[in-house]
Amino acid sequence: MSQNQEFENLANETRSFPPTPAFTNAAIAKPELYESARADRLGFWADQANQLHWHKSFTKVLDWSNPPFAKWFEDGELNISYNCLDRHVEAGFGKRVALFFEGEPGDTKVFTYRDLLNEVKKAANLLLKLGVSPGDRVAIYMPMIPEAIIAMQAVARVGAVHSVIFGGFSADSLASRIQDAEAKIVITADGGFRKGKASALKPAVDEALANQNCPSVEHVLVVQRTKGEVAWNPVTDLWWHEEMQVVSNQHEALGFGAEHPLFILYTSGTTGKPKGIMHTTGGYLTQASYTHKNVFDLQPAQDIYWCTADVGWITGHTYVAYGPLANGSTQVIYEGTPDTPDWGRWWDIIQKYHVSIFYTAPTAIRSFMKLGRKVVQHYDLSSIRVLGSVGEPINPEAWMWYREVIGSNLAPIVDTWWQTETGAIMISPLPGITHTKPGSAQVAVPGIELAILDEAGAPVGPGHGGYLTISEPWPAMLRGIWKDPERFQETYWDRFPGSYFAGDGAKFDLDGDLWLLGRVDDVMNVSGHRLSTAEIESALVSHPFVAEAAVVGAKDETTGQAIVAFVILRSSQLNDLGSEADTSKILRDHVAKEIGAIARPRTIIVVSELPKTRSGKIMRRLLRDVAEDRPVGDITTLTDTSVMDTITGKINAGHSE
Ligand code: WTA
Repeated sequence: MSQNQEFENLANETRSFPPTPAFTNAAIAKPELYESARADRLGFWADQANQLHWHKSFTKVLDWSNPPFAKWFEDGELNISYNCLDRHVEAGFGKRVALFFEGEPGDTKVFTYRDLLNEVKKAANLLLKLGVSPGDRVAIYMPMIPEAIIAMQAVARVGAVHSVIFGGFSADSLASRIQDAEAKIVITADGGFRKGKASALKPAVDEALANQNCPSVEHVLVVQRTKGEVAWNPVTDLWWHEEMQVVSNQHEALGFGAEHPLFILYTSGTTGKPKGIMHTTGGYLTQASYTHKNVFDLQPAQDIYWCTADVGWITGHTYVAYGPLANGSTQVIYEGTPDTPDWGRWWDIIQKYHVSIFYTAPTAIRSFMKLGRKVVQHYDLSSIRVLGSVGEPINPEAWMWYREVIGSNLAPIVDTWWQTETGAIMISPLPGITHTKPGSAQVAVPGIELAILDEAGAPVGPGHGGYLTISEPWPAMLRGIWKDPERFQETYWDRFPGSYFAGDGAKFDLDGDLWLLGRVDDVMNVSGHRLSTAEIESALVSHPFVAEAAVVGAKDETTGQAIVAFVILRSSQLNDLGSEADTSKILRDHVAKEIGAIARPRTIIVVSELPKTRSGKIMRRLLRDVAEDRPVGDITTLTDTSVMDTITGKINAGHSE
């Protein structure tokens, strides 16, 4: 398999970068972290949890008597927003900047910790005024503006549960998530600025709510960002800025149980229906703040931290909305795209705010790499001292470029592996300690136990690929799938009883360093975004032209994987169709409308048949061979072995898009 061959190249990686003595001497993380976690894992996590403020201390660390349903710090009580805001103001850091906001058009706003607390208290009062009670769900569908973070913090402050839906999702995707969670309130904006223009968000909310489609929703709070025209429903809609003017800025944060639900975040799985991943309060914040501090070597009084993730993804939850604030750090948030007004924008922001810790995705790094060093070299990036990568495997070439061009050959790179489900970073080097190799995520962070297993559940040992599993429960782990405990059990725990099955392939090299090998299931990773093949197939077959569809993730130089769809058209519709190029455009747009632009296939290939096994299962492996333009593998299990000849014959004749 090509993936294995690729790994063999990776395994031969001989470059290794030790930390500089100066960095090591000043580093936050000390080697004793590994020792104390090894000596007493639960005691170690209790120590981490005790760095937070507890309204009521916990006496129990972990209850794992009913796996896979874990309870961490169960009898303790805390308020997550108090931990992120009030306690820093009370400790005398009210004047420290919490957020530097950079709007895409160039407008800026600065929030100190005191300012942010003030806004969050008002927003909390607004939610209470609208009848939000602990445990109620609030959907958030926002651009990357400060109000998105204020909304999340306020929902958590009053003990309600947020479900943030990425602003790039369509009205249909939004509606199904609102319905599944039965959200009472939707917080949105008129729109946001992207690629140099206003991009509306409110119409998708209007469409999702039309015809009583989401009957649970009582109010829609609308932040005014672009000042574009919006349709208005006087029964449900309220302007955020008007409401925020008339509420009090006094609000006392109450303690909630450590296992009180904090948020639901939908993510793609192997079926067509997204999973509502559920996280709770105490364990999540413990691991979020511990990893944010130690993995990024955070020195809160000096560092300017910038994570480019949107709050619509888990990275924007843990490493924008919660971890950095829990640690009292100063961070930058940016609304727009990296190419507006030109590809210098990110580097300009780093120069302007003296960003010292920068966390982004390999896709972005590869895009810049393609453009060449010139784009970056005009800017002073000397403030950078730690670089992070997340979301997909980073290839050694991109890693080296990141190190040399962005990190001046000096800043340590932390390649962090984790998932929506794990809630926080699980595998990463620790700057100042770990010798890093380009492309390796290196080691489990202290307190995390993992194993790489073969089909039969036995550890594979160094040098062999296998399934990545987590062997012991961890504080930020998902507590379930919203309304679907069976799916939670089946998806993550049945494959290797007692262990969490991550769905990723991995391998230890002979030095014991870990390499991620990509997904082992039907989940694709496009530009660091998780998408399921089944979800896109069902969007395709919902179009009247399409009889059958099979989707695969094909290797792509920039986006990691790209979506390639093989479709069989309905013969009854063939007369209505134009050229294949027209059909392809219609179907690509259809998927974008059904799911969101991130799911738009790169390529649509019209075929007359799909390769299937005798039991009717589509052999995606063969389609992936075609999509990646290499000889087709073993076809002996196909019902009709001539199918692949027809498909490849067609591709070779140049009929594909
Ligand atoms: C992939 C994002 C290799 C992996 C935080 C995982 C990675 C999925 C890395 C989770 C990494 C994430 N190296 N692969 N450093 N980080 N992944 O839920 O396949 O959006 O299962 O969480 O991204 O994606 P999710």
